Amino acid sequence: MNAQFWKGKTVLITGHTGFKGSWLSLWLQNKGANVVGYALSPPTTPNFFEVGNVASGLESIHGDIRNFEKMKSVVNNHQPEIVIHLAAQPLVRYSYNNPIETYETNVMGTVNVLEAVRQTDCVKVALIITSDKCYENKEWLWGYRENDPMGGHDPYSNSKGCAELVTSAYRKSYFSESGNSDRGVAVATARAGNVIGGGDWGLDRLVPDIMQAVMEDRSVDIRYPHAVRPWQHVLEPLDGYMCLIERLWENGSKYSGGWNFGPGDEDCKPVSWILSTLDSLWKGGVSWNADEADNPHEANYLKLDCSKSRTLLGWAPKLDLMTTIELVVEWYEGYVGKQNMRILAGRQISRYESLE
Ligand SMILES: NC(=O)c1ccc[n+]([C@@H]2O[C@H](COP(=O)([O-])OP(=O)(O)OC[C@H]3O[C@@H](n4cnc5c(N)ncnc54)[C@H](O)[C@@H]3O)[C@@H](O)[C@H]2O)c1
Repeated sequence: MNAQFWKGKTVLITGHTGFKGSWLSLWLQNKGANVVGYALSPPTTPNFFEVGNVASGLESIHGDIRNFEKMKSVVNNHQPEIVIHLAAQPLVRYSYNNPIETYETNVMGTVNVLEAVRQTDCVKVALIITSDKCYENKEWLWGYRENDPMGGHDPYSNSKGCAELVTSAYRKSYFSESGNSDRGVAVATARAGNVIGGGDWGLDRLVPDIMQAVMEDRSVDIRYPHAVRPWQHVLEPLDGYMCLIERLWENGSKYSGGWNFGPGDEDCKPVSWILSTLDSLWKGGVSWNADEADNPHEANYLKLDCSKSRTLLGWAPKLDLMTTIELVVEWYEGYVGKQNMRILAGRQISRYESLE
């Protein structure tokens, strides 16, 4: 990446109060960008946004992505050159009980962001964050490629497939040189999944569930101990997003479209591996029980083929899964030890940046 690229650029991040948004906001602040955030309050208590004092050094605006007029006024007032859309209802199980809210937030929220970009002249690059779950899941062993069909069994996964289709229609209709718009905006989508790292307290997510339990000195209920997932540290896809945005900025529509950012095959490991590794690294260990309840359907095996981002962007994951878990443990140890979490996170970002 170009160290100078982000200096002085105005970047609007939706969902900056969330897990990924907090890490991205800190990282872009460190790179010298003027970060403007638009989101609801942090989704959990505690949360990385407050624990890491992420708000200091950025313009944080409280607002709902479903409110188009407000969204548009934020873009108008702050004139971002780059928009990164992360805000979403991101939970599969919650989506089963709240499908309307999930579709309104994830689909109409994406429409509102793209429409706000369309109705202003400032934005040069827009990146829409969806999920590995956007694909029609065939429950097979091969990785999904960017040109595989969209799908999604549950409302969350499906809403992300819909957000992909919305983005594709906006790109073709308004933002490509051959579309109706007389100006090109480089628009891409990014698909990643099973992101782990310090600072996540999200509901029904494995690592937050485990870390919360060990910090409260109780055992944790595990739903699918044998399920294999492609785990990756949160800094890996964020690195991919930034790398992609730099290319979109320089080469416009050549890099627009969908992009996968996932780990290598060697880091697709069962839930039980994560459990036993955390058990060996966390002082006091992890105690857990199998959750035998009748849980709603969740995709069993989902892997991304990342040949496109490796070949065309030169992006590749930098951390193996063991180092990823060590970083997670270091983060929560720092939190328990009441360290300055903004500084600790900054150190983890610098360490990541120094890797080849
Ligand atoms: N964490 C993962 O493993 C993972 C995997 C795949 C995709 N994603 C995607 O990455 C993005 C960020 O996920 P995360 O893990 O940081 O989630 P998170 O729950 O930690 O953060 C969600 C953010 O969206 C904001 N938000 C939610 N509803 C909103 C609304 N109606 N209006 C404005 N803001 C709203 C929240 O305030 C918060 O800032 C999401 O789009 C999610 O679907 C995450």
